[in-house]
Amino acid sequence: MSSIEDVAAAIRSLRPRKVVAFTGAGVSAESGIPTFRSAGGLWRNFRAEDLATPEAFARDPELVWEWYEWRRQLIRDAEPNAAHLALAKLDDALVVTQNVDGLHLRAGSHEVVELHGNIFRVRCTREGTTSDAPGELTEMPPRCACGAMLRPDVIWFGELLPDDAVARATQAMREADLVLVIGTSGVVYPAAGLVALCRGATVEINPQASALASGCTYTIEETAAVAVPPLVDAILESR
Ligand code: OAD
Repeated sequence: MSSIEDVAAAIRSLRPRKVVAFTGAGVSAESGIPTFRSAGGLWRNFRAEDLATPEAFARDPELVWEWYEWRRQLIRDAEPNAAHLALAKLDDALVVTQNVDGLHLRAGSHEVVELHGNIFRVRCTREGTTSDAPGELTEMPPRCACGAMLRPDVIWFGELLPDDAVARATQAMREADLVLVIGTSGVVYPAAGLVALCRGATVEINPQASALASGCTYTIEETAAVAVPPLVDAILESR
């Protein structure tokens, strides 16, 4: 385990040019959005098989939509926290996120790969076209103009990640001098496998060591909003 100060000093001497932030639900925890697997996490109270699989949607689309609507409302009421805002100061860094909450974009990060989609977009189940989700749902489940059902534009268990997102994340990880691994349990693949592609330094920021911790160069057992801002400052100072 390392201190924030020690890792900040290491970053200053590393002078990383290519930086990737790989984030999970923990980066949004201090915005008040529940994670999936830590205390109070969504998968401790709900069964993923009932809500986040193509089979669940085929069985009961209204239930799935209600759950996503509830989550959308939580996220709408939330604000980006100090970790999102700090990362947005790194103009040339790539954020690779497993989150569907869109908070990195709202914080001002321009280069964001959303591996698991975005909860504020919908996709037509017939045509595959995506669009912004309606602000308020007037019918349940909502339908496309073509008459087919719309679904949230997120990745469910058993589905493939978008090729373009994986390709961009893979290349960035391979080229990175520094990857910040923030707030993920590192147990959901293929996303979690991306970190091992980095040949540079990797820093985990997580109050509880994750499945990826042993493969990281440094681990900081702190929350994202506490540890990310000083590390971002160290990156900016090293330039
Ligand atoms: P998890 O809920 O599995 O893990 C959240 C991680 O955040 C845990 O390791 C916590 O210790 C850590 N954490 C909690 N509070 C934190 C804080 N304030 N600062 C930093 N870290 C904190 O969430 P993910 O790893 O994102 O997939 O889960 C991966 C995927 O599993 C999600 O994208 C989702 C889920 O099923 C899909 O929906 C496809």
